[in-house]
Amino acid sequence: MPRYSEETIAQVREANDIVDVIGQHIKLTKKGANYFGLCPFHGEKTPSFSVSPQKQIYYCFGCGAGGNVINFLMEYENMSFTEALRSLADRAGIALPEAGDSGEQFGMSALKRKLYDINKDAAYFYYDRLKSREGAQGLEYFRDKRRLSDRTITHFGLGYAGKQRSELYEFLKGKGYDDESIKTSGLVIFDEQRISDRFWNRVMFPIMDQNSRVVGFGGRVMGDGQPKYLNSPETPIFDKSSVLYGLNFARKSRKPQLLLCEGYMDVIALHQTGFTNAVASLGTAFNEKHARLLRRYTEEVILTQDSDEAGIKAKLRAFPILRDAGLNVRVLDMKGHKDPDEFIKEEGAEAYEALIRGAKNAFMYETGVIRDRYDLSDPAMKTRFYEELADKLCMFTESLERDNYIQAVSHEYMINYEELKKLVEYRFLKSGVRQKERIRDEKQREETEKRAVRMEAPHEGRSENASLKAQRLLIAWGCSDHEVLRSVRTYLEPSDFNEGIMRELYEELLRESDEGEASASRLMELYPDDEEKRMQAGLIINSDSGYKSLQDMKRQELEKALTTAVQSIRACILDRETEACGDDILKLQELFRKKKELEKLHVSVGKT
Ligand code: GTP
Ligand code: MN
Repeated sequence: MPRYSEETIAQVREANDIVDVIGQHIKLTKKGANYFGLCPFHGEKTPSFSVSPQKQIYYCFGCGAGGNVINFLMEYENMSFTEALRSLADRAGIALPEAGDSGEQFGMSALKRKLYDINKDAAYFYYDRLKSREGAQGLEYFRDKRRLSDRTITHFGLGYAGKQRSELYEFLKGKGYDDESIKTSGLVIFDEQRISDRFWNRVMFPIMDQNSRVVGFGGRVMGDGQPKYLNSPETPIFDKSSVLYGLNFARKSRKPQLLLCEGYMDVIALHQTGFTNAVASLGTAFNEKHARLLRRYTEEVILTQDSDEAGIKAKLRAFPILRDAGLNVRVLDMKGHKDPDEFIKEEGAEAYEALIRGAKNAFMYETGVIRDRYDLSDPAMKTRFYEELADKLCMFTESLERDNYIQAVSHEYMINYEELKKLVEYRFLKSGVRQKERIRDEKQREETEKRAVRMEAPHEGRSENASLKAQRLLIAWGCSDHEVLRSVRTYLEPSDFNEGIMRELYEELLRESDEGEASASRLMELYPDDEEKRMQAGLIINSDSGYKSLQDMKRQELEKALTTAVQSIRACILDRETEACGDDILKLQELFRKKKELEKLHVSVGKT
């Protein structure tokens, strides 16, 4: 990293025990040498997230997330490297060099910090205004019109922007913020004639990211004015496509699903009634980033958007996005009520709970929407409806799953099962889905294999696999035990390792061990910006499973294991050379001799 020296980074890392730091955010339980917990980076019910106090790294066997203590904060708190480092330095009471000669990256993070501060101060300002005499109108709006309790108002930090045009600006200036930063926050508009607050005469909703930091605002008119809602513009800290309103609370709700609705008021009304798992996407259409964000915290999403035409469209649009992110999707039928806020006001919490229980599978919901487009009393239309259903059913490329849905659909619309099945299977064959399925499966298999081996283009053959396994093992062991590396390095050079990540990791290990002690956690820093590679590195560094752990091994056993590993790697190299040398008899004889010699090799440990 350009800003801080290696030593400083190492000092901060070492001063923050990874188990302590992660333990502040996640409940960890000790099992053997490691700690386990529920992975915060993907929804899961059984813990596959592990933290190793020895290696000072974390690693999730479910989703592949992994890294050292700095990487953890970056991912968990959505911080930049510098932010994470600063936060850990603070935690350990280490003073970091200050930014005089601010590099680009540092300048950015200083600005971001200022923007977070401005937004937080603005939130307090609006909240105070709501409680002031001038705020009475806003308070009345929330209490009487929207039936919010004072607790809810405080919980969501709701506020009020008064009728004067530059109150907030003056407040922020008084706090010492400069015009440039205030302008970047988007809360104040600077034009030629004058400087004026973006929001005035509105009730205010602070928008918080999943870590409860205020990143922007929504403001609503208290009557029927236009626009009904006004939002902060995008800023360096406010990316609308990656914020979900209410997620900071919902992620801690410990409910089996998240409820996705449309607006601020729906989220607030639901939370007030006890449905603390409600979130909403704001001002932008639901997108892939939102879906991935949801997937971090849950496996199932229930859509509870408005029941109008636009709401139905929004739901149909969201289905494939949510499915592709690996989420199970259900849809709640609000039975003619406009939105969750109004449903709850009119029908109450228990009725809503019943809706959740009865939420329809997304596919069945879609078929319902299709049915409503046909006049089923007309036989021709009815046939067309069946055909469209059959086409839709072809999206399930797994035959078992397809059959389950054929059953459900035939039941729901009272269509003869056998007939529908015939129709679907015929269309399935015809549409060439099978072809696509084959291509997709092929691709998937390739991907899985690649991931299993974690290598670019593996060569063929058993010796190649054994060599890869040995390389992984040596890297994993090399970073937990200095002795291993010292014993092995006389036999293996970086160029003996497969090109790419293996070689890079081994090179780094040797370099670190020359400078002192090599460690898994330093190794994880090799790829700060490349998540894919970091994940691969995590897999390699953790790949001692299937073997006894180093600590449990007798010296003899260890020597035997190391010997076998070195032999596998060398043998594979010889095999490659043999293959390449065609019928050069002399060369072949030499290679044969080398192979024989290799069998006599013995790696010893602990000799100095
Ligand atoms: P209430 O009338 O306060 O109950 O709002 P609602 O949530 O029922 O309103 P609606 O369904 O019309 O809007 C859903 C969401 O879309 C809102 O929460 C806003 O985030 C957004 N939205 C609605 N109207 C506007 C608008 O005029 N401008 C912008 N930028 N966003 C809007
Ligand atoms: Mn509403």
